[in-house]
Amino acid sequence: MEQIVQQIEAYKQEISAFEPKNADELEQYRIKFLGTKGIVKAIFGEMKQVPNERKKEFGQILNAFKQLAEERYETFAHLKDAAASGTNDIDYTLPAEPHRLGTRHPISIVRNKIIRIFERLGFTIAEGPEIEDDWHNFTALNLPENHPARDMTDTFYINQNPDWLLRTHTSSVQVRAMENSKMPIRIICPGRVYRNETISARAHCFFHQVEGLYIAENVSFADLKQTLYHFVKEMFGENSEVRFRPSYFPFTEPSAEMDVTCFICGGKGCSVCKHTGWVEILGCGMVHPEVLRNCGIDPEKYTGFAFGMGIERITMLKYQIKDLRLFSENDQRFLKQFETAL
Ligand code: PHE
Repeated sequence: MEQIVQQIEAYKQEISAFEPKNADELEQYRIKFLGTKGIVKAIFGEMKQVPNERKKEFGQILNAFKQLAEERYETFAHLKDAAASGTNDIDYTLPAEPHRLGTRHPISIVRNKIIRIFERLGFTIAEGPEIEDDWHNFTALNLPENHPARDMTDTFYINQNPDWLLRTHTSSVQVRAMENSKMPIRIICPGRVYRNETISARAHCFFHQVEGLYIAENVSFADLKQTLYHFVKEMFGENSEVRFRPSYFPFTEPSAEMDVTCFICGGKGCSVCKHTGWVEILGCGMVHPEVLRNCGIDPEKYTGFAFGMGIERITMLKYQIKDLRLFSENDQRFLKQFETAL
């Protein structure tokens, strides 16, 4: 037994001095000492030779030796990892994970289509804040405080400042444009607007609009009709007709609501148009002289028209979507259907 213990001592020195420079040397070491045919295993095999009364003592020596051999190996295990990351075990021939393309939201599809039609007519896009002050959303638009038409929309006010509110229409952007722009003005204002409505299939507390404004010298109602007629032909097809019905908005005079031939039944009458052959899609009119004056524009020199439409309404008609809430629920099963639409 003394001989084996001496041998172990020699191995221990060899192990302590072992300094591998690379993964190969480490592997040689592993095979030599820790492999199935390695030295540690072989020496454990010597246990049989040891007389019973010394087995305990020898067992301790063996365990300490094994532990030393293993620890030394672990000290340099990083060499093995470095070598592995250098080798290329990625299989480039495997088929890749499919890249799923997102789909456009139906509101975006319709909004973009509306914008593109007006852009071709020379309208540029104007944007403004969703948190507005009373002046831009109401007062400048000929809706002074206590004006009954303020009740046409239920407004969200902001506690911090009674002058602040969430815009109820993007006409507020038109006011900003009139205050700042040089003549002529030819803009469309797409954006989100807010009204304090109880949420249901037919109403929501926010929705999207595209409003338009054209101000120059000698702009007439005929220009308004021609522009919107062109828009309708582009948007809903050559066979669409329009009709104007007198209406009221405080910021336009005269005012009208415009209907188009029902694009589901082509005017024959169906459930979408409630068997009238027509669907209402926008409000419009000649900008009220008082509004021009409020924005520093001389109504004797300039005139203009404005219009506004709800994107949700047009989208619902177009795709026969029955519930407004679908637009804001982010349900993939709904949203995916519009991939190739329009
Ligand atoms: N601002 C109106 C609305 O939100 C729409 C409109 C715009 C009507 C311009 C006439 C002229 O309902």
